[in-house]
Amino acid sequence: MKILINDGFSKSGIDALEKGGFKVINVKVAQNQLENYINEHTIDAIIVRSATQVRQELIEACPSLKLIGRAGVGLDNIDVEYAEDNGLHVINTPMASSSSVAELVFAHLFGGVRFLHSSNREMPLEGDSRFKELKKAYSQGIELRGKTIGIIGFGKIGKEVAKIAIGLGMKVLVTDNQIISAPITLDFFNGQKTTFTIETVDKSEVLKNSDFITLHVPDQDNYIITATEFEKMKDGVGIINTARGGILHEVDLVKAIESGKVQFAGLDVFETEPTPAVQLLMNPEISLTPHIGAATKEAQDKIGLELAKQIIELLG
Ligand code: MLT
Repeated sequence: MKILINDGFSKSGIDALEKGGFKVINVKVAQNQLENYINEHTIDAIIVRSATQVRQELIEACPSLKLIGRAGVGLDNIDVEYAEDNGLHVINTPMASSSSVAELVFAHLFGGVRFLHSSNREMPLEGDSRFKELKKAYSQGIELRGKTIGIIGFGKIGKEVAKIAIGLGMKVLVTDNQIISAPITLDFFNGQKTTFTIETVDKSEVLKNSDFITLHVPDQDNYIITATEFEKMKDGVGIINTARGGILHEVDLVKAIESGKVQFAGLDVFETEPTPAVQLLMNPEISLTPHIGAATKEAQDKIGLELAKQIIELLG
């Protein structure tokens, strides 16, 4: 059986698939060439990340396809219902990247409260000529310990964020449309474990009482954070989005930064990926990363092995 890997995949995943007897074709076929390529090579399964779109038209035009594998979490680039209705397996790896995404949230947060996003832009330009002025400009940092983090969405990544926050001595406020309460277990270096039961609260409570807010919901039809929600937040709040671009209203975010309502934002995802709005890219109060939440060696290895295991079980 032939598997086309179109957006990259870990070596461990490729090795596992080859060991499982699959022929792996690891190339990048342009979106408009995919249909031809899949049909010419009678591809049985395609593995994608977020770049390749696997829409109804492609699935319909490629009868050899039996499986679509998403090397990651979000399935918004795949017409899942259509694929499944037509007998294809659609699989993803919801567990594998949770820690990596959660750690990126804290990379943005630690950076934000000490102005690293801004300092890293200014120091190369003025670090030698205006050192004292810059030192003063960045002298009002704060600690995360003792502050309240609001988590919107309590799936696997939201839970990982809560674990790190608790470990740091933060207070945790969580809201979720479906979850009323859920346990999270902190595993320590010496084998000890501590379990906390987190009761979720209304979104309005999270908005009102959090020093920092981080978003962990899948792609939505509507924004979940707009001017209305910013209005309800604490003055000087920090906001992090490593989930999906379309859930945070970017124009309203820039306005909220300009008014001082939001002190800083950390963005890994953007409404108009892969060409984020220049107003975001140039904003000195925004810490920026190019959608790298799951981009660690550990997550990519786990993703590769987890997806390969599922493919071998389903098609092997
Ligand atoms: C995911 O959904 O797995 C992450 O956002 C990573 C990605 O899309 O590349």
